[in-house]
Amino acid sequence: MAVSLLLQLLFIVLLSPTFTKPNATHAQTQYCLESEKSLLLELKNELVVFNPSDSAILVHWNQKDDCCFWKGVECDDAGHVTSLRLDYEGISGGLKESSSLFRLNYLEELSLADNSFSGSLPHNISNLARLSYLDLSRCKFSGAIPSTLGNLTQLVDLEMADNFFSGSVSSGHFEGFASVEFINLRYNSLSGSIPISIFTIPSLAWIDLQHNQLSGKVDEFAMLNISISQLSVLDLSRNRLESLPDSFIELQSLSVVDLSDNLFNDTFQLDKILSLPNLRVLTLSKNHLSRLSPNTFPVSQSSLDHLDLSDNKIAGEIPSWIWEIGNGSLTYLNLSCNMLVGLQKPYNMPHSFHFLDLHSNQLRGEFPSLSMLKHPANVDFSDNYFEKFGILETGIDARVSLRNNRLSGTVPTFFCKAASFLVLDLSVNHLSGSIPRCLLENSFVLNVGRNNISGRIPDKFSPKCKIMSLDLRENSLVGSVPISLSNCSSLTVLNLSNNKLSGTVPTSLCKATDLQILDLSVNNINGNIPLCLVKNLPALNLGRNNISGRVPNFAANCSLQYLDLNNNNLIGEVPPSLKNCKLLKAMDAGGNALEGPFPCMLPLSLRVLVLRDNRFHGEPRCNKSWPNLQIIDIANNNFSGNVDSLSFSGWRQMMTDTVTKLSYKNLAFAVPNLNSSTGYKEEVSLTIKGAERDLVKIWPDFTSIDLSCNRFQGGIPDSMGELNALYLLNLSHNTLTGAIPKSLSNLTGLGSLDLSANQLTGTIPKEIAGLTFLQAMNVSHNKLVGEIPTGPQIQTFLSDCFEGNIGLCGLPLSISCVKTHVSPPNVKSDGETAIEWDYVFAAAGYVVGFGSFLWVLIFQRSFRERYFDKIEDVFEKIVNLCKKKKRRDVGKRVVRNQGRR
Ligand SMILES: *[C@@H]1O[C@H](CO)[C@@H](O)[C@H](O)[C@H]1NC(C)=O
Ligand SMILES: *[C@@H]1O[C@H](CO)[C@@H](O)[C@H](O)[C@H]1NC(C)=O
Ligand SMILES: *[C@@H]1O[C@H](CO)[C@@H](O)[C@H](O)[C@H]1NC(C)=O
Ligand SMILES: *[C@@H]1O[C@H](CO)[C@@H](O)[C@H](O)[C@H]1NC(C)=O
Ligand SMILES: *[C@@H]1O[C@H](CO)[C@@H](O)[C@H](O)[C@H]1NC(C)=O
Ligand SMILES: *[C@@H]1O[C@H](CO)[C@@H](O)[C@H](O)[C@H]1NC(C)=O
Ligand SMILES: *[C@@H]1O[C@H](CO)[C@@H](O)[C@H](O)[C@H]1NC(C)=O
Ligand SMILES: *[C@@H]1O[C@H](CO)[C@@H](O)[C@H](O)[C@H]1NC(C)=O
Repeated sequence: MAVSLLLQLLFIVLLSPTFTKPNATHAQTQYCLESEKSLLLELKNELVVFNPSDSAILVHWNQKDDCCFWKGVECDDAGHVTSLRLDYEGISGGLKESSSLFRLNYLEELSLADNSFSGSLPHNISNLARLSYLDLSRCKFSGAIPSTLGNLTQLVDLEMADNFFSGSVSSGHFEGFASVEFINLRYNSLSGSIPISIFTIPSLAWIDLQHNQLSGKVDEFAMLNISISQLSVLDLSRNRLESLPDSFIELQSLSVVDLSDNLFNDTFQLDKILSLPNLRVLTLSKNHLSRLSPNTFPVSQSSLDHLDLSDNKIAGEIPSWIWEIGNGSLTYLNLSCNMLVGLQKPYNMPHSFHFLDLHSNQLRGEFPSLSMLKHPANVDFSDNYFEKFGILETGIDARVSLRNNRLSGTVPTFFCKAASFLVLDLSVNHLSGSIPRCLLENSFVLNVGRNNISGRIPDKFSPKCKIMSLDLRENSLVGSVPISLSNCSSLTVLNLSNNKLSGTVPTSLCKATDLQILDLSVNNINGNIPLCLVKNLPALNLGRNNISGRVPNFAANCSLQYLDLNNNNLIGEVPPSLKNCKLLKAMDAGGNALEGPFPCMLPLSLRVLVLRDNRFHGEPRCNKSWPNLQIIDIANNNFSGNVDSLSFSGWRQMMTDTVTKLSYKNLAFAVPNLNSSTGYKEEVSLTIKGAERDLVKIWPDFTSIDLSCNRFQGGIPDSMGELNALYLLNLSHNTLTGAIPKSLSNLTGLGSLDLSANQLTGTIPKEIAGLTFLQAMNVSHNKLVGEIPTGPQIQTFLSDCFEGNIGLCGLPLSISCVKTHVSPPNVKSDGETAIEWDYVFAAAGYVVGFGSFLWVLIFQRSFRERYFDKIEDVFEKIVNLCKKKKRRDVGKRVVRNQGRR
């Protein structure tokens, strides 16, 4: 709303005669003055174009042509350059006070937008006294705005958004402006208070100071005569303002005021502002308001239609006067993200509402009746404590969200009458019984997921069915997937996952040609996969059912992006036609009885591959590599041969910048539960027809390789060390030989390393001890020898992680590395010292380990809890293979060691 209104206003002003460009003369008939031409060529030489291929204008300027014909240049009748546009020229480096630019005295229009000037804007900009349009947006200028700017008395439009201008804005900056209509200084770093004199520029219609560091009070205007102001749009959002002066209400032509994201508190006089006679849009979201004061101004006289008070701390009831604003002229009211508990009665909701957003409050009881609405309405009551349904009976188009309340009982039928176009979200409530049939057919989008809905879905969808998206996941539905769903010709999304559905996947679904997402996972569905489903469906999830038979052949124009068939009873080989699915991003076929060689036909678009718990065999050698792969899990099959056959060097996605890998975000990174292949369900998000669906939520940088429980042999290739973005590596339970490559120490983001139950020999490279983010490590049951290297983490793992080797010693194992025959008798004392040093060193190692473990425990845990739901849970599960010691144990061990010393 605000945006469209702003655009409207922008249009009006753009079309106003003062703003039209000065009569752009036809360059063809003109001849450029030599003096101007040489200034332009001089300018060309001055400006540094870092990469000439970025330049589309300057590169073409030459001595030969008439300069009025040059790109970016326009002249007047007399051959003076009046307009210069050098947008997007890749210009870098500064602009000098002495620049020839400032001698082009006839310039009326100058645009240097979207370049990379560094340094400040020269004072001599004021030499261009005829400028009416100056565009310096996104130019990377820094420093103060030149004090001479106000000398540009002809200026109409000043565009300086998105730079690094800093310092305070003083009255002097604008003193000379007589005809300026627009001032855009948004996204800079201006500080100090707002210079009140800008409000005295009689022509000013629009000022945008959004996203600066303006602070404090706006001074009283008392001394100034601002009744002449024409200011219509004022954007002061995203600053640090605390209050407005009383005389603010003298800015009588204000129409749009955005004060969001500032520090206004209850001293803010809302009703004063409401008394501005022309005010239509007021945005005060993200401030510190805690109550809606009783109105003193007769709000019926207001002409406000858009009021946004969201994201404050407003408590108590929504006062009745809100609905009386402008005798019900409000079309947009946003009170979301506050602490409101109810609605003061009577609430006469305006007929005019298009948007009513009360989400994320503490509203309880019955949700307000919406029967008076007369217009298409977007109503959001989600994330409250409503227990009972209000009335919605209007025949209008409506988008009602009641998600995440405490609604119980059955879904009322009045919703059916409510709307010709209904988008209804009742998910995450306590609804029971069955869903009214009329609702199933008549809504456009229906989400009743995560309730206690039971019974069958009536198989009575008629050709009148309008439903586009039906989401009934996580209920207790029984019976089969309705065959008649195919009558719903607009059906695009069908999610019936996590119910108790049985029967087969109806082949009639193939007739729903618009279907994009079909999720029937976690039910008791049996039978085969209908052939047609793997033809043109982008996302298919049939995981955790009793589907049997073979994977059908994929069509030549297969559009699958996401295919989840995990934990079924599928047999046979992956059909070669899988290569037709060129967009496939994620495939989970884990937990079946699939056989045959590694599916080399998988397309290059692949990001997630899960084949664990099947009967695949042979060496996974393909003559290609998957650059986008970020998760590969082929554990528990019969793969054999050398792991090197997977050509890790081509897995670019696992080689992202190590610097980002080391950020806390990645440290605290969620780890999916690899033991249950459903974990992946929550991981890959897909963009289907441009719309991001959260079919699966992604942990975008999560990377893992799990090749465990196969029959791989030979050495661990050095090239694995190139996968420096890898988080989890599991090569356990194979027959790998040779030494642990030093290159693994280059996996600086590694959180979990499992090499257990192999035939690895040699020592643990001391470089491995430098992997500071390792949360779990297991090298047990190999043939390793020598001292366990000392590092900040490694001594904090349980001794189980190192046991079952032939010659490992040192902490955390209780086997000491000191060999009695080491010290020859003649250097006995030295030998003793060495022993002592050993212990001291080990103890010191503990202290370091202890410290960093504390850091991990305190910092990371709070971080995880703060930013990621349930990660702790998942994390515990993944790391259960070899948990770190508890802090207490470490402490004890240190004491014991010191005691022994
Ligand atoms: C603008 O230029 C056009 C074409 O050159 C001409 O017809 C028109 O009269 C000019 N207008 C003004 C106000 O000079
Ligand atoms: C700035 O412009 C003025 C007037 O044209 C000129 O005299 C002066 O030399 C310029 N400043 C610099 C540093 O070139
Ligand atoms: C710019 O304005 C200031 C006063 O604000 C004046 O002193 C100065 O001479 C003016 N410069 C030009 C180039 O007009
Ligand atoms: C303020 O300006 C308006 C319009 O120019 C004028 O009519 C009015 O008298 C002025 N008021 C004062 C107090 O100067
Ligand atoms: C509200 O803001 C004003 C102005 O900054 C300040 O003086 C006052 O102490 C603040 N009141 C509260 C309750 O924070
Ligand atoms: C609302 O009604 C009152 C009294 O009839 C009237 O004075 C006022 O102008 C009306 N407001 C609007 C915005 O129409
Ligand atoms: C209401 O405000 C919230 C928080 O500022 C915002 O996320 C939401 O999109 C707004 N609602 C509408 C309908 O614009
Ligand atoms: C780690 O990576 C760097 C840079 O790619 C490489 O020069 C170095 O040899 C690698 N270290 C090991 C031990 O492989």
